[in-house]
Amino acid sequence: MSDIIEFTKEGAVGVLTINNPPANALSFAVCKALGQIIPDCMADDDIAGLVITGAGRMFMAGADIREFNLTRPDDVPDFHDVLRAMEEAPKPIVAAINGVALGGGLELAMGCHYRLIAAGAQVGQPEIKLGFIPGAGGTQRLPRLAGVEAALEMIVGGDPVSAERAVELGIADELVDGDLLARAAEFAAEKAASGEAPPATGKRNEKIAGIDAAVFEAYREKIAGRSRGLEAPFEAVKCIEAATNLPLQEGLALERDIFAVLRDSDKAKAMRYMFFAEREVAKIPDIPRDTETKDIKSAAIIGSGTMGGGIAMCFANAGLPVTLIDVSEEALAAGIGKVRANYAGTVSRGRLGQDAMDTRLGLISGATDYADIADADIVIEAVFEDMELKKKIFTELDKTCKPSAILASNTSTLDVNEIGAVTGRPDKVCGTHFFSPANVMKLLENVRTDAASKETIATVMKLSKTLGKVGVLVGVCNGFVGNRILGVAARITDFMVEEGALPWQVDQAIYDFGFAMGPFAVNDLAGIDIRHMTRAEQRRLWPDRRDPVLVDKVYELGRYGQKTNAGWYDYEPGARRGTPSQLIEDLIVETSGELGLQRRQFSDQEIVDGYVLSMANTGAQILEEGLALRASDIDVIWHYGYGFPRYRGGPMFHADLVGLDKVYDAVSRLYDTYG
Ligand code: 3HC
Repeated sequence: MSDIIEFTKEGAVGVLTINNPPANALSFAVCKALGQIIPDCMADDDIAGLVITGAGRMFMAGADIREFNLTRPDDVPDFHDVLRAMEEAPKPIVAAINGVALGGGLELAMGCHYRLIAAGAQVGQPEIKLGFIPGAGGTQRLPRLAGVEAALEMIVGGDPVSAERAVELGIADELVDGDLLARAAEFAAEKAASGEAPPATGKRNEKIAGIDAAVFEAYREKIAGRSRGLEAPFEAVKCIEAATNLPLQEGLALERDIFAVLRDSDKAKAMRYMFFAEREVAKIPDIPRDTETKDIKSAAIIGSGTMGGGIAMCFANAGLPVTLIDVSEEALAAGIGKVRANYAGTVSRGRLGQDAMDTRLGLISGATDYADIADADIVIEAVFEDMELKKKIFTELDKTCKPSAILASNTSTLDVNEIGAVTGRPDKVCGTHFFSPANVMKLLENVRTDAASKETIATVMKLSKTLGKVGVLVGVCNGFVGNRILGVAARITDFMVEEGALPWQVDQAIYDFGFAMGPFAVNDLAGIDIRHMTRAEQRRLWPDRRDPVLVDKVYELGRYGQKTNAGWYDYEPGARRGTPSQLIEDLIVETSGELGLQRRQFSDQEIVDGYVLSMANTGAQILEEGLALRASDIDVIWHYGYGFPRYRGGPMFHADLVGLDKVYDAVSRLYDTYG
């Protein structure tokens, strides 16, 4: 038979164990082996029935995503035909779902006549997260087993369901808490002995009969907002609807055609790329996976402001005790009060239980004396961006904290090498740059200083995961990777506004590209005063560079953004969405005049190119300087830290799609105009 599928026997029942590590993905080889072994088993008089299961911790994580760009070799059967042969097989075939069965994995299980599932396993159709729809019958068979409502949720939402829920929904026939394989073999033998014809999922129509088309219309409306820019969710709804009003084979054909178009689309390519990109970030060439790491069992945060409080919540959420340090009891009380209010908001929205809130708050303590954090395994400094203050804090921490403690800075701009140099343990100093709001944003830029040891870096990379973050390793430079790129891109859009565009036109173009907000709206949210501060540092670094002047004028008007109800936009008190400001428009036109610029029209394409391709150019520069490990790390940073739309793959991937010649032309134009 074959190595990739092991054949064994339990009495008269054949057991096929898919053994294709790490995820038992449905590769061409697995598909070919299944296509051969199943008919052989059916023809074998000594085999009464079959059990299909997976080796290791997964049943099957779906089709092999690495093979999506390849053409199926001639000797590999169409997976649809394999499933059809299984459904029509005369002997019972039982899926023993030992771990996750996702995508093609669930489709394989649904092609079986029965499904037994181990407690702790999960099933799902996550294809939507890769930019396409199930392509091997998922949209046709899942509604037949689970009903239309659950199929819509699972296929359009993409999240898996637990074993218990799978049984409740009718996806699985039995939950097995003990020896899954033994029970599945027994089950197959019972069914074989019963003489009843094995039931084909594709012929089970009771849950899809008489469904009103209005159900689908309502669902389309429900998902419209969150599916902005995507086709796959609506195509999935179309296919599930087809399951209710077309014969199985026609439904399958429709699904297959749509799947092929979506799978080959740029958006799906981008999402596939992101799937691997976010797994690559954990791989650091000179720090092998088995590098020793320190156990982080407790933490301390210096500064109980918005950032410090948010970081403390990350630790508490992960079940780790954390001490917040501030200069006075009043400051501490205010900081911890904000944390409490933040949790209470989540509880009132029904997203956290009161018990969980109490447990988490119980893990957060406050102190004003560094002696109280002498035993912390990691200390993260999160005070405002002042080098002298930070140096003072690190000198103090170095004296007080135990020698093995890691000392990290949450700085978003300052030189962490310089900070580490004031300590006697520069090998244990690094940056951990959280993004605001720290308890929500998934990105963590871990800054590797010249002196940081491999153990320190491996520890903070592992810690990122523990905190539920995507940790990306970056080098020391002004703004690190994310903010350095943002600084350049925002400078370009500032220039565009001085030359003829308006902030709301720029924001609309960037929103239509897929970002949640454009740069001017983001600026209002983050604070124009904060931007003003970082610009001072940039001017110090690049004194000869031409700089846009408008942002300073807006700052001088005291319009700091949402916090002052006025920035680039006007805001009703407390509102998060602004309206275009006539005052700002007048200021812009006046400024263009002062600068001697003849205002001109900007197309949306020109705006997007200026913003996104300048990002890619800075990204290339960052790679050249060795401050990011790979282009895809930059894309992960931009997705998780700044909301670069996943279906665009990040600035570097986007630039690759646009093509080097076009990017070169666009960037050259920017260079000629803005330096
Ligand atoms: N194809 C190829 N490789 C896969 C894979 C897949 N479907 N699923 C996981 N892997 C690989 C990962 O890249 C990783 O490789 P690495 O060790 O070399 O980096 C390894 O398996 C382990 O994966 P994770 O690190 O992600 O392990 P976790 O335990 O954190 O997560 C998982 C496991 C939940 C299965 C997660 O890997 C996952 O979500 N996988 C993708 C599932 C998916 O999207 N399936 C649908 C595929 S498309 C399809 O089936 C089309 C069909 O309808 C025809």
